[in-house]
Formats: sequence, C-alpha cells, structure tokens
Amino acid sequence: MPQTYNIAIDGPAGAGKSTIAKQLATKLGFIYVDTGAMYRAMALYCLRKGIDKENQAAIEEACKEITISLQYEDGAQQVLLNGENVSGLIRTEEVSAMTSAISVYAAVRQKLLELQRELARTKDVIMDGRDIGTCVLPNAQTKIYLTASTHVRALRRYQELIEKGEMCNLEEIEQDIEERDYRDMHREIAPLKQAEDAVLIDSSQMTISQVIDAMTEAAKNHGLRENR
Ligand code: DC
Repeated sequence: MPQTYNIAIDGPAGAGKSTIAKQLATKLGFIYVDTGAMYRAMALYCLRKGIDKENQAAIEEACKEITISLQYEDGAQQVLLNGENVSGLIRTEEVSAMTSAISVYAAVRQKLLELQRELARTKDVIMDGRDIGTCVLPNAQTKIYLTASTHVRALRRYQELIEKGEMCNLEEIEQDIEERDYRDMHREIAPLKQAEDAVLIDSSQMTISQVIDAMTEAAKNHGLRENR
C-alpha cells in the first residue's frame, strides 16, 4: 500500500478546526476525521447511563461496553455508538462538558487511539482533535496548531447559537471555553499542546478561506503534491 498523507490539526475549542478541516478535506480529496465526535459519543453513552463524570471505575467499565465506528454519508462523517448513529445528539453543551471531563481517563483515550491510527494508516486523512500531532499521529507529514483568542472563539460560538435561535450569554460561553481549555491543556494524559513541529495559525483576524490557504501552503511546504 502506498504511504498515506496525514494532516493533523490540534487546537482549543472553537478555533474553527472542524469547519476548516472539513473544507480542506473536500479541497484535497482527503477523508476528514473528527476525533472530538468519537469522544463525544463516549460521553453521550456515560450521560445516558447516568454515570457521574468523577466516577472513574464506572467510566472504565462503560468503555468495555462501547464500540465506536465511523461512516461517511455524502462525505460527511457520521459517528456510530454501538451501531446507532448519534451524530445529531452530541453537540449540546451538556455533552461538551461531559466529553472534556471523561477524556482525561486513560481507558477512554486508549479505546479511540487504535481506531484513529488505523484510519490514518489506510487513508489520506485530515484529523482534528487535541493530541493528534503530539500523540495519535506523531509522524503526520503536516501538523497545524489552530488557535484564536478566547474572546473571538466565544463570540463565534455565541453567534452560532443565536443563529440557531438559542438563548445564550456571551460571558457564560467565554467562561465555559476557558474551563474546557484549562482541563484539556492540564490533564495528565495527552494534554492539548502545540507539537514542536506544528505550524501555528492564529485565526482571530483571518477569514475561513485565508486559513484554508495557509494550511494548504503548509501542506505543500511539507511535501504534499496535488493530484495524489
Ligand atoms: O473538538 P471537540 O470540541 O468536539 O472536542 C470535545 C472534547 O473532546 C474536548 O473538550 C476534549 C476532548 N478531545 C480530546 O481529548 N482529544 C481529542 N483528540 C479530541 C477531543
């Protein structure tokens, strides 16, 4: 099998990773792998079971009962939890908070690591998450650390919710983002941090197409040829 080309994108919540990665994958003809969705599906399982986010033993037990798989419909990733497509159920604030809390546990991370590596071994992927460049795909040809100021990220989330007609408060969103960043960056296993060989992109003052151009440029500088 010819070697695959992997692009790893890491960064904090709301930096625009998934929006950008999806579009870049379409542009390059790569598969987009949203690892956050896999963690979210595991969190949904724990919430449904009524497991407390501090109950490590129960979460480890739950890991044994869970199978996560991915499917693609019209190029869009669907995440399956024990065969059920839960893609439409994992974007709530409740699931976000639970996800960040359970993703500190080794059993949870180990469960998803092999699946993520296998995808990247067999396909050209753009994979986004928190530990992709540092831990999941240390040999990814291109690594990007995508960030933006906390205020800009909160504003983007606020606008998204307002457009959906949901009631929300900008200060609360900003506080939630800060808490999630703190937890993701300070956990013991595979914390969020910029890989030494990652290209840093701060999207605070950039449009989506500018970020996509910057990433395409970074990939070309790291050996990506068109028409793979
Ligand atoms: O990217 P996201 O917002 O959907 O991720 C939700 C949570 O999942 C995030 O707060 C931390 C966790 N996560 C992780 O620990 N490692 C990853 N590779 C992806 C997500």
